[in-house]
Parts: sequence; structure tokens; C-alpha cells
Amino acid sequence: MDKTLLSIAIDGPAGAGKSTVAKKIAKKLNLEYIDTGAMYRAFTLKVLENGLDPKNENEVLSLLENTEIIFLNNHIYLDGKIVDEEIRNNSVSKNVSYVSSYSEVRKKMVELQQEMAKKNNVIMDGRDIGTVVLPNASYKFFITAQPEERGKRRYMELIEKGETDIILADIIDDINKRDKIDSTRKESPLRIPDDAIVIDSTNLTVDEVVDLIIELIKGVNKIV
Ligand code: DC
Repeated sequence: MDKTLLSIAIDGPAGAGKSTVAKKIAKKLNLEYIDTGAMYRAFTLKVLENGLDPKNENEVLSLLENTEIIFLNNHIYLDGKIVDEEIRNNSVSKNVSYVSSYSEVRKKMVELQQEMAKKNNVIMDGRDIGTVVLPNASYKFFITAQPEERGKRRYMELIEKGETDIILADIIDDINKRDKIDSTRKESPLRIPDDAIVIDSTNLTVDEVVDLIIELIKGVNKIV
């Protein structure tokens, strides 16, 4: 990796607030934000739109070669079309952990993500950024929160979007299920990178986490 480029890796479980925090830091520090979860979600959307079974690896892989996924200027493009909204729907959320567990899928996404980090100063969020995608990242953070709190945040997001047919207990259940699949899968499981700073955001606001990270970066190295 080009040493003159800055890279910030943010990892953590679903609903910890990584993407909201990373987006705000990107704005404040003038970095390119890359949402790697959105890339796995976009591919999952394509699998579902094609009527394929996300649990069937061969079916999923049959689509991989002819798929173009780009994250640019805060938008996710699937085969040239912006799918920011579609990738957040419940069926994508329920199936993305299966699709993202296949090694060929991960290989392609990781390559794309590493290419992006070679071109710009980036802040990238995901599950394997500090461990696999950017092992030499300038800074690594792991943001977490209690599952109940993460479920509540996700629930509020959906309510604000106008969804009415949702139950908090189901959402917490989904989050626990996703945590389990993400952290026990064979390929690049979710884990805390050895050299990451861990932030528990259960009792912190988004802005408190943002300020904390910027303070920590300044404290470690006064380049920002
Ligand atoms: O952050 P998110 O909820 O949008 O991520 C969606 C899914 O994608 C999540 O269940 C795990 C997977 N993922 C991954 O395996 N590796 C990443 N770098 C980012 C997301």
C-alpha cells in the first residue's frame, strides 16, 4: 500500500453504528468513505433478483463473474445502477451473511476494496478490514455495542423509514443470528484485529464516537 495514503479501518458487528460514524469522519477529515457491507449487500440483491438460493454456493457463484459492483461518492452501483435503497430491504439483510461467507465472493470484494484504498485516502467499514483488506491500515478501530442496543437502533431506523410491520424482539434475534454467522464462518470471520482500538458505543452518541476516534487519531499521530 502507498504509505503516503491514509487509511482508517472500522470493523464491528451489525448495528454498532460503524457506517454512520465512518461517514461523519470521512466528511470531517476529507476522506473517501467505503461501505464494504453495501458491496456484499448489492451482490446478495442480485442473487435474490435472479431467483437464486443464497444458501446454494454454486448458484451464487454462477453470477459472480458477470457482476460489476462499485462504491463511489456514497452510492452503491450494481451493474451500473444505483441500489442504495434496495440493498437495505429485509430479505437482503436476512441473506447477506450466507452470500458473504463464500470465499470466491470475498476474494472478489477484497480485491475491489484494496484497489480503492490504493487510489484515495479512505475510511472503510466492514468485518475484515483491519484483519484482511487493509492489514497495514494507518488506524484500526473496532466499534461494538450490546446486541439489545444495536437491535433498538436498527428498529428505530426502520420505524423512521416508515416500516410498521416490525417487532423489536425479531430484530434483536436477527442481529444475534447475523453475529453468530459472521463470527463463526470459515472465511475471514469477524474478529477484533490485534492492533485495533476497541470502542463500546452502547452508551455513546454517534458524535461522541466520532469525536473520540478523531481525538485518538490526533493523539496517536498529529497528522490530522
Ligand atoms: O455492515 P452491513 O450490515 O451492511 O453488512 C452486511 C453483511 O455483509 C454482514 O452480515 C456481514 C457482511 N460483511 C462482511 O462479511 N465483510 C465485510 N467487510 C462487510 C460486510
